[in-house]
Amino acid sequence: MPAVYLKEGARRLVEAGFLTIYSKWVDYTVGAVRGGFADIYLGDECIGSGFYEDIGAVGVRILSNECGVDPRETIHGALDRALRLRRLLAPWDSYRLVNAEGDFLPGLVIDVYSDVVVVQTSSLGFDRHLDIVVDWVTEHLSPRLVFLKNDQRSRREAGLPVERRVLKGRGPAEARIREGQAKFWVDVEHGQKTGFFLDQRINRLKLGKLVWSGASILDLYSYTGGFAIHALLAGAEKAVLVEESPVAVKAAEKNLAINGVRDKAKIVVGRVEDFLRRELEKYDIVVADPPALIPGREHRGSGINAYRRLYEAAARHVKPGGLLVASSCSYFLRQDEFLQLLGRAVRSAGREATVIWMHGASPDHVSRPQDDFLRYLKVVIMRLE
Ligand SMILES: C[S@@+](CC[C@H](N)C(=O)[O-])C[C@H]1O[C@@H](n2cnc3c(N)ncnc32)[C@H](O)[C@@H]1O
Repeated sequence: MPAVYLKEGARRLVEAGFLTIYSKWVDYTVGAVRGGFADIYLGDECIGSGFYEDIGAVGVRILSNECGVDPRETIHGALDRALRLRRLLAPWDSYRLVNAEGDFLPGLVIDVYSDVVVVQTSSLGFDRHLDIVVDWVTEHLSPRLVFLKNDQRSRREAGLPVERRVLKGRGPAEARIREGQAKFWVDVEHGQKTGFFLDQRINRLKLGKLVWSGASILDLYSYTGGFAIHALLAGAEKAVLVEESPVAVKAAEKNLAINGVRDKAKIVVGRVEDFLRRELEKYDIVVADPPALIPGREHRGSGINAYRRLYEAAARHVKPGGLLVASSCSYFLRQDEFLQLLGRAVRSAGREATVIWMHGASPDHVSRPQDDFLRYLKVVIMRLE
């Protein structure tokens, strides 16, 4: 069996259960090829097996705590466990089936959108072993289409090829899904991430439960209309969506139409910052779900300021007694910092707030205790006086 030998310095990471080990902790290899399966050693003890990566900053991805195992059996075993868990946690037509480390499959994400399965990898090992994944998906889910959505910026930065292509099946890379009462059309190929922000499902459904009849909603960074559509289906009378991506706006128009609420919504194509500066109207509900405003540790200062400006401006647009839905998907902003920041932003807007909901990603986005980086999403719903 090919072998990768780690430096002594990797011990604390291995003992803590981290599954992605950086290249700087790889000492030497014996017979290992990049993207191939290997036993992993610390000193003369074999601590597990996985992919030898040596791509970007990543040295190895640990896929098993056992040595000498068969890659196909190991990956299929983890996929079986992931599916069993989703049958309990997410008995829906669309869900995250594999959440990387959370499912002991570091470097792999699989999202299911009814009859379309989207595979996304950030690992040379999984790139080279896609057939193992596709065989399992075909046998257990029988989808119409298995699509590879490997177009993340992180892949380009790591030197992995950027590509979107059909792995198996036929027909367009798009799907119709249900989320509670709402229906969404998901453009897997041209949409962001794997096509839809599945992580926000639980928070969108929650907002639907809090909406009152006749309410108005301002959905900032609306993407394909998720929050606004739930609000309209729950009785809201009017929605304004603000989104800068023309692809997302096209999908939002389609989603509003298939839910029968197109006439209650207006879409503003442009930047949220500009919209908030010129908008004078106040709304019963304002949602602010921006992209990560702190993309890296080095952007913390400017990102925190950007969040504070956004939430303050958003709070100014909430009517007395209305709701502010504030979200942050920046891993580099901890939950306690997020709450403090929200408190300050809301007070700067001259408002008092009561927190009525606080949540992370939907439960299908599983993580292990040590995988802090998978718990990036923070959503708070506040009533503002
Ligand atoms: C996290 S997603 C929102 C997801 C959405 N709330 C949902 O539930 O599907 C952020 C969205 O903001 C858009 N966006 C990014 N920067 C923007 C800006 N400055 N103004 C308007 N939209 C922006 C992106 O195109 C993306 O669709």
